[in-house]
Amino acid sequence: MKILAIETSCDETAIAILECARNENRAEFTILGNTLLSQIEIHKQYGGVFPALAKREHAKNLVPILEAALEEAELLCEDKQEIPDEMRARISELLARETGLAAAFLEFLGECEPPMIDAIAVTSGPGLEPALWVGINFAKALALLWNKPLVAVNHMEGHIMAALAPQQDGPLVIEDVAMPVLALLISGGHTELVLMKDWLTYELIGQTRDDAVGEAFDKVARMLELPYPGGPEISRLAESVRSNLNSDSQGSTLEFKLPRPMIHDANCDFSFAGLKTAVLNLLKKYPSITEEQKMLVAHEFENAVADVLWKKTSRALEETGAQTLVIGGGVSANTQIRRVFTAQIAADGEHPHVSLRIPAASLTTDNAIMIGLAGYFRALRKEFADPVTIKANGNLHLS
Ligand code: KG4
Ligand code: ZN
Repeated sequence: MKILAIETSCDETAIAILECARNENRAEFTILGNTLLSQIEIHKQYGGVFPALAKREHAKNLVPILEAALEEAELLCEDKQEIPDEMRARISELLARETGLAAAFLEFLGECEPPMIDAIAVTSGPGLEPALWVGINFAKALALLWNKPLVAVNHMEGHIMAALAPQQDGPLVIEDVAMPVLALLISGGHTELVLMKDWLTYELIGQTRDDAVGEAFDKVARMLELPYPGGPEISRLAESVRSNLNSDSQGSTLEFKLPRPMIHDANCDFSFAGLKTAVLNLLKKYPSITEEQKMLVAHEFENAVADVLWKKTSRALEETGAQTLVIGGGVSANTQIRRVFTAQIAADGEHPHVSLRIPAASLTTDNAIMIGLAGYFRALRKEFADPVTIKANGNLHLS
């Protein structure tokens, strides 16, 4: 089954085309085409994602990246297509709210034969609703024109599936997954521990009571006058301290001690707002902070985050008896978090039967491949979306 997958939930516009085979016991995916346009440079000046701008950029990017993905997949067959007036009118109406998209769509698709694909998967939530709608309306227009079924994908399920497919050359394969799976989902908008008891059946085990962990990284980075997105910047500073830990900096780290919020509480919830405030208060003591002191703050902040994430995950593993642990979402790119989780699981200590799966670096941040993976699992169960009622849901939960 060939799936064309579309992702526009935040600040990446992405389309991938996957050849998907076999079943839940062993699912195989060959990436035929994969395109992604990041809007980071555009949002940088605002210090975060600006929804109206994200929506406009998605509308501008979707047709060019569709063309690039089809071309890469060798599914682009340029040939004059007569689009009947009635179809043109319906598509124009569907895309009326996305500036310039209807015209670009009709121009390109009037020159392109319907490709040999079987379904169109699109992120329906969670995320920024104006951004999600662009992808959904685009998917609806394609489904209408090509007469293909639609699959609505939960973005977080995409992050879980990406983490379950180990990094390797050749096709992505999801196999030998021991249930239940505990997923730590950490991104700009989410921090949650979710149990997948069986394929596609979820239970929420814990979540943040205030800020998401990626949000905390981004806000602390701003306090340290680092550019958006802050996660990779904090990580860079923190890693430079670690590679230097025999120097004087180790002693002075004590000065920059930060709390580990809720670490000893008897639940699997998180809180990062207090940690962020603690950084703010700490920085007030250093009105003219040096570059080295900034590095020490970044290092201690990152250690505090990794400690709390691990302790709560460890508690959840114990409470749920999960056999597989995955980390997903943009923050799972973080070197220290990956290091702590890998070391703790490898230590054969408290969780000797748990196998850890971490996504390939290229699949940690938002992309359309992960939407294709999750879309296939839904399509296998014939869970197709109604093209009339499909809608964006910024707060969509896994259930
Ligand atoms: O999953 P994602 O790409 O988008 C959302 O769905 O939110 O996650 C983006 C978040 C941002 O907050 C960014 O700062 C964070 O992931 N991030 C990182 C790293 N790379 C990205 N945080 C910590 N360390 C990193 N290396
Ligand atoms: Zn994400």
